[in-house]
Amino acid sequence: MARIPGKTRLRRVLVVLGSLVAVLALAIGGGVLWLWNDAKVSTVGTTEFRNELAVPPLARSTVRKDGTRVFDLRMQTGEKEFTAGRRTATWGFNGDYLGPTLRARLGEKVEVRVRNRLPEASTVHWHGMHLPARMDGGPHQMVDPGRDWTPRWTVDQPAATLWYHPHPHGATEKHVQRGLAGMFLVDDARSERLALPKRYGVDDLPVIVQDVKFDGAKFDHGHGMMRSIGFLGDRTMVNGTLDPYKVVRDERVRLRLLNASTARTYDFGFSDGREFALVGTDGGLLERPATTDRIQLSPGERAEVVVRMAPGERTVLRSHAQGNYGDAWQKRFAGGDDSFDVLQLRAADRLRPSPEVPSELGELELPKAADAVRSRHFDLRMSGINGRPMDMNRVDDTVTRGTTELWTVRNDNGMPHNFHVHDVQFRVVEVNGKTPPPALRGRKDTVFLPSGTELKLALRFDGGPEFADPDVPFMYHCHLLTHEDGGMMGQFVVVDKGQRATSGSVGGSTDHRHP
Ligand code: C2O
Ligand code: CU
Ligand code: CU
Repeated sequence: MARIPGKTRLRRVLVVLGSLVAVLALAIGGGVLWLWNDAKVSTVGTTEFRNELAVPPLARSTVRKDGTRVFDLRMQTGEKEFTAGRRTATWGFNGDYLGPTLRARLGEKVEVRVRNRLPEASTVHWHGMHLPARMDGGPHQMVDPGRDWTPRWTVDQPAATLWYHPHPHGATEKHVQRGLAGMFLVDDARSERLALPKRYGVDDLPVIVQDVKFDGAKFDHGHGMMRSIGFLGDRTMVNGTLDPYKVVRDERVRLRLLNASTARTYDFGFSDGREFALVGTDGGLLERPATTDRIQLSPGERAEVVVRMAPGERTVLRSHAQGNYGDAWQKRFAGGDDSFDVLQLRAADRLRPSPEVPSELGELELPKAADAVRSRHFDLRMSGINGRPMDMNRVDDTVTRGTTELWTVRNDNGMPHNFHVHDVQFRVVEVNGKTPPPALRGRKDTVFLPSGTELKLALRFDGGPEFADPDVPFMYHCHLLTHEDGGMMGQFVVVDKGQRATSGSVGGSTDHRHP
């Protein structure tokens, strides 16, 4: 038997090992490539627009002798056939999915009778509304199953597209995903007078955009691999309608865009690249319309746009892949490369003429950075803001009623976040040291921060004496709901000079429950 010299044997072993490593590397590389390709989602060009867009009904209300407008909101479980013949278990307000559009006027007193008929405790928060903390519906105003909660306040802000949704600490993502969300429109003399499309459901359309995923008839709310961003769906729906189209009979249509998704940011435009007029941001109308072909909205943000239609044509509201979403990895695995055909607009053969969009929309009420009496810094990390995860019993900041502050918000966290502040509409003063683009020049309550962004915001904490409350805090947080639920949230109280936040058991409100 010929002996194999040691050297040769070693060489053979090395060759075998080498090929094993190569095979392994190929397998891993192939796996990564597969994940990479699989992570990108698009419904562009493949959406069939088979369903007529549902328009949430205007909520009925009664007006009491003292002028208070009273609404009823019932949180309930239900079932909805998003696709014919397939029943999906859902939650909704006064119905199976989403909720009616509440509508009130500047100066009006409102009261909402909230009934929780869900099997779980929840809350209803009025996102974008300026109101006292104990009426805010944040995590300290939990409503137990079978119980009611009746907040009252006076509408004290200009016309705007606001919304409402649950805010139970640790479970907001789940509650919103199951269907709890709706719009709250504020009107004022100016918005009623301006020549903007304003017939609700006709030429003034609520457009509540959510991404979803189905597993048969059921919702699939899984976060998937490498999804520190939270849930990302593989298709979108508007007002709870899959593959929606809307027949338009007017030359100009106003779309009130609301990103009610839990993690996904959209970059809206039209399939043919047409321009539109941006007339409003989160907290109301701009000073003058801005002509653009894109508007980016992260979760919780709103925009009002007016688009012009020609007789007989069709166009699609589309969400494009985003240019400012972070590095290639983030873009791919956190949704930045995804694109969606969101809503088809079908113009009738004959259109009613609409007046031109006014070139001036009026004065803009925004705080001034020069008035700031104090500044604060907020460092956004998934693990917590300023290094501290949310604690229901800790007030992080105390602000004085009637003052303006300058807040610097920074995201270096390697993933996209956004920042939402309760109670106020703020001014974006600077974006990375520069003047903000038109889309960020209006009243804002939520703003997108891809990693590597630093924003300066001017906020004014106004309101009557009822706004000073050392016991009940407002929230600021990332509106990517899995981040918020995970502790990316902080609490501030608004007090009068000389008052201090109540320490210890914060809230003093009913039905405390920590999930
Ligand atoms: Cu829309 Cu604190 O939330
Ligand atoms: Cu809010
Ligand atoms: Cu976040």
